[in-house]
Amino acid sequence: MFSLHGKSALVTGAAGGIGRAVAERFIAAGARVVITDIVDGQGVADEIGARFLRMDVGSEDSVAEGLDRAHQELGPLDIVVNNAGVGDVGTSLADTPADAFERITRINQWGVFYGLKHAPAHMNDGGSIINTSSLAALIKMAGSGAYSASKAAVISLTRMAALELGHSGIRVNAVCPGYIDTALGSGDEGQILSEQFTALGRKGTPADLVGAFHFLASDESSYLTGQALVVDGGWSCGPSPQILETLLGSKTVG
Ligand SMILES: NC(=O)c1ccc[n+]([C@@H]2O[C@H](COP(=O)([O-])OP(=O)(O)OC[C@H]3O[C@@H](n4cnc5c(N)ncnc54)[C@H](O)[C@@H]3O)[C@@H](O)[C@H]2O)c1
Repeated sequence: MFSLHGKSALVTGAAGGIGRAVAERFIAAGARVVITDIVDGQGVADEIGARFLRMDVGSEDSVAEGLDRAHQELGPLDIVVNNAGVGDVGTSLADTPADAFERITRINQWGVFYGLKHAPAHMNDGGSIINTSSLAALIKMAGSGAYSASKAAVISLTRMAALELGHSGIRVNAVCPGYIDTALGSGDEGQILSEQFTALGRKGTPADLVGAFHFLASDESSYLTGQALVVDGGWSCGPSPQILETLLGSKTVG
């Protein structure tokens, strides 16, 4: 169960953070993996037993070429993870420069669009595509306007692609992480907010997430498509007992 033996995978934005952890898990489960990133990931690839290809997900040509090369090196792919992304500018919409909004949208939203557009031609029927969205797609916090919009679009694209690719047996799902301890999620606010807002009372780690990606990549999720799996320590359930205590002086209402 959950074996990825005989499967080949490509993970974007995998020189570090969540993408690297997902690639390592796939390799541990038996997959052959190509990691891609805009920065040099050859050292990471050597360390974890993957191949590395340079790819800028903000460029359609780069994504198309990267997928083509991965296909040439590994044969048709079974798993594609559109994971690369960048964080927010931390300003209100009124103060967000249009070029910053455009950059976030191009990488986080268009990057996933390019992956969904070009990956299927390089995949086996019955494959799995996983897009990294975010809890920010579902729960809005001031200062994350561009990021939240891009991640909500990722869920919309996930559902559309699931409908369009079902005839090939290719499943398309999204993972929506809460704050995760990576370069992108390393700020103090993620620590403080996660302690206060999650049911589990802590920030997540890449190790907390990889099981969700592994499940969605494996044949154990063979009837699951078009879904957004929220991995947020229970943040989206509602106000935590910690928050109630701060606001009401009691861990319960009523
Ligand atoms: N860390 C969190 O708290 C968190 C929460 C929710 C969602 N996410 C999402 O998870 C994904 C991975 O983020 P992470 O936390 O591992 O961050 P990270 O910064 O550790 O890793 C992101 C990787 O993407 C790469 N990248 C950036 N722009 C790129 C581009 N144009 N083309 C190719 N690669 C590019 C970076 O070089 C980096 O290696 C992102 O989509 C992010 O939005 C992260």
